Amino acid sequence: RFTHLTLGIETSCDETSAAVLDGGKKILSNVISSQVELHKKYGGVVPEIASRKHIENIIPIIQEALDTAGVTLNDINSIGVTYGPGLVGALLVGLSTAKAVAYGRNIPLIGVNHIEGHIYANFLEDPELAPPFVCLIVSGGHTHLVYMKDYGEYEILGITRDDAAGEAFDKTARVLGLGYPGGPVIDKLAAEGNPEAYAFPRAYLEPDSLDFSFSGVKTAVLNLINSMKQKGREVNTADVAASFQEAVVEVLVEKTLRAAERKNAGTIVLAGGVAANSRLRGLLMERADRMDLKVRYPSPVLCTDNAAMIASCAYFHYVKGERSALSLNAVANLGL
Ligand code: KG4
Ligand code: ZN
Repeated sequence: RFTHLTLGIETSCDETSAAVLDGGKKILSNVISSQVELHKKYGGVVPEIASRKHIENIIPIIQEALDTAGVTLNDINSIGVTYGPGLVGALLVGLSTAKAVAYGRNIPLIGVNHIEGHIYANFLEDPELAPPFVCLIVSGGHTHLVYMKDYGEYEILGITRDDAAGEAFDKTARVLGLGYPGGPVIDKLAAEGNPEAYAFPRAYLEPDSLDFSFSGVKTAVLNLINSMKQKGREVNTADVAASFQEAVVEVLVEKTLRAAERKNAGTIVLAGGVAANSRLRGLLMERADRMDLKVRYPSPVLCTDNAAMIASCAYFHYVKGERSALSLNAVANLGL
């Protein structure tokens, strides 16, 4: 009935997620339990609260993933789990559970790098897609511009020197009183605002650099809000959101196109939570089209954290014969 069933587990931040995939690409289930409501009142993820919620949720979420797929634990052939980067206490919940399953069932365990996992979300919906390509991974914790030469082979072309792109969205949304997480709210609100209302700084850094910096634009928004407050003037939140988003997206798009040019790549792939941003998708498509470059991105639900992408990444490593030891530990600051 199935070729190879992989159970994926993801608990690196504030989503408890479990998925069952057949043959590394076909999603039989992808259950995502978000803790957003729990962390909202703190304006961001509180690590200990996240860990405690994961430990309550993990078994029911795995059971739901198995039930939805119409299988039992006995049908699972391998298990993939995020072991970093992320919040260490949160990671340990998923990792310990995955190890217990692998040990109890005597099936292969494959530890997955969360950043790499984000890229694999793209293979789930586009069977034609294959490396090489240039990939922009933009999430709450990471901003990586990468050349994926082959499965498991990455050349890092640029990273952020300060805030991650999603972090800049979240912090700016907080300053604007829009709540957490800020990315989706700013995305929506920006559609009603004028992106040229405020000229926020674009940090291109050194002429040949593919690195990013978002702390400047974030501070510029903060300074604007503070000075408006002092003068007792109202800010048009939609205009600020649109102008902020434009400043961030323009730099992301420009550097991604430069990276494609530098690597002579014909395809550009987006990944991570910020890849759900409609302006980023739109502007990149528009500009890439003019250069005859293809653009691919996952549906929004596969852009943000989920276990299907982790299971997919695990499967590709499994096929190459890679296995993790049952002594595998969580690595909070794991690099790509
Ligand atoms: O990939 P993800 O779920 O978690 C991490 O690995 O960090 O990304 C979450 C981030 C948050 O910062 C959130 O604000 C941002 O992705 N995000 C967006 C959008 N949807 C989510 N940012 C901009 N526009 C969006 N539509
Ligand atoms: Zn993520």
